[in-house]
Amino acid sequence: MRKITVVGAGNVGATAAQRLAEMELAREVVMIDVAEGIPEGKALDQWESAPVEGFDTRVTGSSSYDAAAGSELFIVTAGVARKPGMSRDDLLKTNAGIVESVSKEIARVAPDSIIIVVSNPLDVMSYVALKASGFPKERVIGMAGVLDTARYRSFIAMELDCSVEDIQALVLGGHGDTMVPLVSYTSVSGIPLTQLISRERIDALIERTRKGGAEIVGYLKTGSAYYAPSSAAVQMAEAIAKDKRRILPCAAYLEGEYGQEGIYLGVPCKLGEGGLLEVLEVELTEAERAELEQSAEAVRSTITKLD
Ligand code: 2OP
Repeated sequence: MRKITVVGAGNVGATAAQRLAEMELAREVVMIDVAEGIPEGKALDQWESAPVEGFDTRVTGSSSYDAAAGSELFIVTAGVARKPGMSRDDLLKTNAGIVESVSKEIARVAPDSIIIVVSNPLDVMSYVALKASGFPKERVIGMAGVLDTARYRSFIAMELDCSVEDIQALVLGGHGDTMVPLVSYTSVSGIPLTQLISRERIDALIERTRKGGAEIVGYLKTGSAYYAPSSAAVQMAEAIAKDKRRILPCAAYLEGEYGQEGIYLGVPCKLGEGGLLEVLEVELTEAERAELEQSAEAVRSTITKLD
């Protein structure tokens, strides 16, 4: 790609920009933030690492959206993060206002771009970005499933003392306590997880995955996770920038898939040039379907709190 813009130069945004640059996913990476000096300073600092790291992606920062004009892809991380004891939904009102104005600016300076939403509560902020930008659903995708699945995979790897690379898994549903890790689609080099770990331990790993974000907030106290969230967003960006057609769990706007209508929910998506190419509908057990329905209900009720 020629240009990718990261909105929000906080921990998630700045780390994402650095990863994008180090992977040379675009000729230019722009960081935008309302905090004057922060995007410029962090971008310059990152660019000064280029001679050592060996990347040629120019990183720049600005407080003006005009600097993002012509970007093909945006990663939106703007908004406030959780403090201990807060749920992602506690961020609703504040972040909805921020994501709405950010999305309008994006539509103004880059009307043909693709937006990856990272701000929380994720599923609802993706919905806000879709409505405010006026973009088609193919060009507004939410990041959460890749992160939740990465956490789940990392916990399984610790449990089995094996490589994270050999663990395939799928976590669907909303990015919250109601997320749905699919045990039936979890395997270790093709071996069903249930043959390697007791059901009791699997349940414990699932519980830890559900609370994975809160576990980090509990340690950091002044903010939430950013290394894994930025990795997850950048993996989605890579799939789009390189037209890899990767199948990743992402929050997509559903119009009938999985029996859901008019909400964002984490489902298996094919990502490539142009953004969301396809939502894959996979078979679910009775229990998984019920859990997904419950998760959709939670997202739907948060949307009603918007106004
Ligand atoms: C997380 O799960 C911040 O929602 C993000 O860590």
